[in-house]
Amino acid sequence: MKIEEVKSSCKTQRISAHTHIKGLGLNDSGYAIQFAAGLVGQDSAREAAGLVVDLVKSKKMAGRAVLMAGPPGTGKTAIALAIAQELGNKVPFCPMVGSEVYSTEIKKTEVLMENFRRAIGLRIKETKEVYEGEVTELTPVETENPMGGYGKTVSQVIIGLKTAKGTKQLKLDPSIYQSLQKEKVETGDVIYIEANSGAVKRQGRSDNYATEFDLEAEEYVPLPKGEVHKKKEVVQDVTLHDLDVANAKPQGGQDIMSMMGQLMKPKKTEITDKLRKEVNKIVNQYIDQGIAELVPGVLFIDEVHMLDIETFTYLHRSLESAIAPIVIFATNRGQCTIRGTDVIAPHGIPLDLLDRLLIIRTLPYSTSEIEQIVKLRTVTEGLQIEDDALTYLSELGTRTTLRYVIQLLTPASLSAKIDGRTAIKKEDVEEIASLFIDAKSSAKILTQNKDKFMM
Ligand SMILES: Nc1ncnc2c1ncn2[C@@H]1O[C@H](COP(=O)(O)OP(=O)(O)O)[C@@H](O)[C@H]1O
Ligand SMILES: [Mg+2]
Repeated sequence: MKIEEVKSSCKTQRISAHTHIKGLGLNDSGYAIQFAAGLVGQDSAREAAGLVVDLVKSKKMAGRAVLMAGPPGTGKTAIALAIAQELGNKVPFCPMVGSEVYSTEIKKTEVLMENFRRAIGLRIKETKEVYEGEVTELTPVETENPMGGYGKTVSQVIIGLKTAKGTKQLKLDPSIYQSLQKEKVETGDVIYIEANSGAVKRQGRSDNYATEFDLEAEEYVPLPKGEVHKKKEVVQDVTLHDLDVANAKPQGGQDIMSMMGQLMKPKKTEITDKLRKEVNKIVNQYIDQGIAELVPGVLFIDEVHMLDIETFTYLHRSLESAIAPIVIFATNRGQCTIRGTDVIAPHGIPLDLLDRLLIIRTLPYSTSEIEQIVKLRTVTEGLQIEDDALTYLSELGTRTTLRYVIQLLTPASLSAKIDGRTAIKKEDVEEIASLFIDAKSSAKILTQNKDKFMM
């Protein structure tokens, strides 16, 4: 079982529409601040979400789940993301859409299980022998290539490390030089080198250099205390799914067909139930020994009415298992049939599951709230907009949806650019809005001209 060198396989998330959201924006007593942490209005939903965060932190959410219910574009996804951010930045957030479970290759429950395990983190703490300090010098020592020729090779690296207590000069193997380069280590950085494996970890830039520039995406860390050579607690965050993948064997045998199969689908691995049990066993051992700690994250299932009765039953059971993430569902449907049955239920969710849900309602925004959100998005996207264009957009948003007007921003800025302007004018918005119609108008046109469309 490999646990040491597991790479984190975070799903690359397409949440760029939500980059402005940094948290729930609540005050100390848990009330929503009208405009904070990138969120505007929707006070009750945010306060309810704050309570969910408290419940999760005090470990009282077990066996329960949250449902965000409300019309499209009312911030359901945004608030779910904010909940994950409030739980801490190392807490896994795994978003999925209900319809993702339907695949011809993989079982529905398998897809759910994988996402479940993506949403459960494991924090592994190990005490390791390390050399740690601020890099004071970094000199590769070159020698003539022993194989002949003109090239030179690095035969060793001299590195100076400084802590609050002392300095040390180390002579290192050239292989470590490569890892130093990979981590882009320079003098002035704080790093540590694991004594056994030679693995290098760059922790950030030393505080002593912090005043160099003000605008930098750099993390500054204090000069390490203690000796350079010491025992240090090293923390690593992975998800259960990462461990499954790291331990999965490539599929197939040695015959030509399965070799071909592997060529066509590189990296295709099979994670079986047996393997998961194995991984769980090891994880439990680590937890018992106090080396590791479970960090339940958030599994966000959007368009939950797309799930069918089979997956609901499975989910219901999984919620009760000992290690489960916090599940947040979202839907914009009212009464509809539960897929796979002909029963009509609220949100298309079976009643017994519905019973377990804390339901948070999101409401349509007022014109001034829409104006604030659109303004916020223009700032985030680095666009400029004139006041009357902003007013026009927010009124349009009240008649259509928030999502629609946010989507108009980029094309409108292009239209402005074509005219050689930097700021978006009202004409740009009007022009773009006439080119791209919103869903409601589109539906209206469809019903008015029924006879002209194919059925
Ligand atoms: N209260 C809010 N404050 C700031 N931005 C919001 C708020 N509600 C929604 N948004 C933004 O509006 C857009 C649509 O919201 P979204 O969360 O996708 O709606 P839903 O999931 O309910 O359909 C997103 O870009 C989202 O980040
Ligand atoms: Mg959404």
